[in-house]
Amino acid sequence: MLVRGEPGMGRSALLEDTAARATDVRALRTAGLEAESALAFAALHRLLRPALDRTVAVPAPQQRALRVAFGEEEGDRIDPFLVALGTLSLLTELAENRPVLCLVDDLQWLDAASRDALLFVARRLLGSARHTRAAARRPRAGGGAVPG
Ligand SMILES: Nc1ncnc2c1ncn2[C@@H]1O[C@H](COP(=O)(O)OP(=O)(O)OP(=O)(O)O)[C@@H](O)[C@H]1O
Ligand SMILES: [Mg+2]
Repeated sequence: MLVRGEPGMGRSALLEDTAARATDVRALRTAGLEAESALAFAALHRLLRPALDRTVAVPAPQQRALRVAFGEEEGDRIDPFLVALGTLSLLTELAENRPVLCLVDDLQWLDAASRDALLFVARRLLGSARHTRAAARRPRAGGGAVPG
């Protein structure tokens, strides 16, 4: 679910309320930060950090891609597709125990790498039992649009 609208309309409050009520699910949260919008995978790292101990259950190449993307392992290059697949695998693994709810605020400030990975995951999970909630400001006229 994507909530879009004018600044100050209450999207963050809606996500807060959702998180407070989400007692029977595993809720993971992140937000786009203007100051971190140039840092690749910063927002994805914030989302997955509480669950990174479960990367051991993710296929090795995806696990390695996540570790390289999050600066836990050296690597020459980061494969964004493997990071996205790793995110999907990790969320799927978590959902074996409890439904997973991903709350993403201020999508318009997500770093591009995190945004692409999360949109990939959201597309793959459409129609499944896992839900993604996100909020974004409506793009200003002539400004950059948020996909979705
Ligand atoms: N349902 C509500 N009832 C009363 N006040 C609310 C409600 N929802 C939001 N507010 C208030 O409106 C203000 C803006 O809300 P919020 O920060 O959630 O909006 P936003 O859409 O996330 O804004 P931003 O564009 O800054 O991200 C806050 O002061 C918040 O406390
Ligand atoms: Mg907000």
